[in-house]
Amino acid sequence: MHYLIGIDIGTSGTKTVLFDETGIPLASQTAEYPMYQPQNGWAEQDPAHWWDAVVSTLRGVIQESGVQVSSIAGIGLSGQMHGLVMLDAAGEVLRNSIIWCDGRTTKQCEEITRRVGAEQLMAITANPALPGFTASKILWVREHEPEIYAKCRHILLPKDYIRYKLTGVFATEVSDASGMNLMDVPNRCWSEEILSILEIDPALLAELHESTAVTGEITPEVAALTGLAAGTPVVGGAGDNAAAAVGTGVVEPGRAFTTIGTSGVIFAHSETATIDPKGRVHTFCAAVPGAWTVMSCTLAAGGSLQWFRNNFYGPEMQVAGDMEVDPYELMTVQAAHVPIGANRLLFLPYLMGERSPLLDANARGVFFGLSGMHTRRDMLRAVLEGVVYSQRDCLDILRGMGVTFTEMLATGGGGKSPLWRQMLADNYNCPVVTEHGGEGPALGVAILAGVGTGLYESVPAACRQILRFNPAQLPNPENGAAYTPYYKLYQSVYGSLKEEFAVLAQL
Ligand code: XUL
Repeated sequence: MHYLIGIDIGTSGTKTVLFDETGIPLASQTAEYPMYQPQNGWAEQDPAHWWDAVVSTLRGVIQESGVQVSSIAGIGLSGQMHGLVMLDAAGEVLRNSIIWCDGRTTKQCEEITRRVGAEQLMAITANPALPGFTASKILWVREHEPEIYAKCRHILLPKDYIRYKLTGVFATEVSDASGMNLMDVPNRCWSEEILSILEIDPALLAELHESTAVTGEITPEVAALTGLAAGTPVVGGAGDNAAAAVGTGVVEPGRAFTTIGTSGVIFAHSETATIDPKGRVHTFCAAVPGAWTVMSCTLAAGGSLQWFRNNFYGPEMQVAGDMEVDPYELMTVQAAHVPIGANRLLFLPYLMGERSPLLDANARGVFFGLSGMHTRRDMLRAVLEGVVYSQRDCLDILRGMGVTFTEMLATGGGGKSPLWRQMLADNYNCPVVTEHGGEGPALGVAILAGVGTGLYESVPAACRQILRFNPAQLPNPENGAAYTPYYKLYQSVYGSLKEEFAVLAQL
């Protein structure tokens, strides 16, 4: 029997899972770390925390599973996309990583659009310049921290920094690199033209591979540190969303999934590079060689619930800790007692500004309709519903682009909640399904490792062989009708506040 490891370097923590070659998880370990918000709208993390989490979870899964490390055929890396990691000539981290939900670079995005030209930028990178993406973060450091930029010799994405630590190799792959605004996405290569216009030295960037390619091997030092065998292959892997696509079988036309992780994503597979001319949703290379994806991304989905939990559900967190259960389970039981519409209360989940479909870094969270009769529970229900409305808002755009599917896969921490899934089914008006093991990105990159090391024939073939699905949750038309007026109001509240958000950002 062969084994595969998937490592997912997420925003709230890193999850490492060891699978056997049939896709059964034998051991799983998670380690959490903080996100820093030094200013309103900024978001950073310390790459040293990711590395510590990777080392401890790798050691943990090897011990927990008891497998012979020489039978581990390969490792796949998945991770939060877009984060900027800068290293000096000695390979040392120069500053905290500016991560995907940071909104400080509106001005640099305007500069990129002006220098490249809006149409040219869309044609080459398949996306507009967005504050979440990496290019504008590079320009921001060059402008605001020139002494750091002068020392920078390597620019990496979060999971590719971990690859460097594991293998000593500077490499990336097309699904994650698509989110840098520096790639020619239709042609799956770095764009010499964009790099030259933005005056970014191509030598700073890592070597670009397909997601299934073997990019390096575990070094003897890392073997001693983790218990892995030196020489274990590490494949390209994928950005967390492209990885989740493989882990949920969204690798063929007609299939789509929704992730409720820290971010909220709706993701559909495509055989061509389909571009939204308004740039409200993203077009990236898929982890499946030769395919693309179209996806929306909202910045605070599970992140909104986490914020609400941390600030208002301290007692439940304590009790859940004592009972060794997930505090979110205790919270969703409470939310289920509140009727649809949260007793006429709406929540706009724009805590980090918003990407899809608003493209507005100034937007901020709102409770709309607070009354003296409302309790913490109503607010909790409003948070869950607001996150679902934000996904529905994105789905309307994807459907408008001709994206079709018969059922929606659900994944991410929020995808584990039956209440949240039912809200998705009712609002999307389609069945919502989960993959049996529910490991999403970690399984996805383990599959990519299996393809890259020859255990499986292709990504779709491996998915057909490994994935099993739970029975669907069906939409309830009565619920759907009850949600619709709230959804319409949700959309118009943002429209009414758009100008005021801009004023607030200037205060
Ligand atoms: C996708 C995005 C997020 C991050 C973090 O564009 O920014 O989904 O990958 O999960």
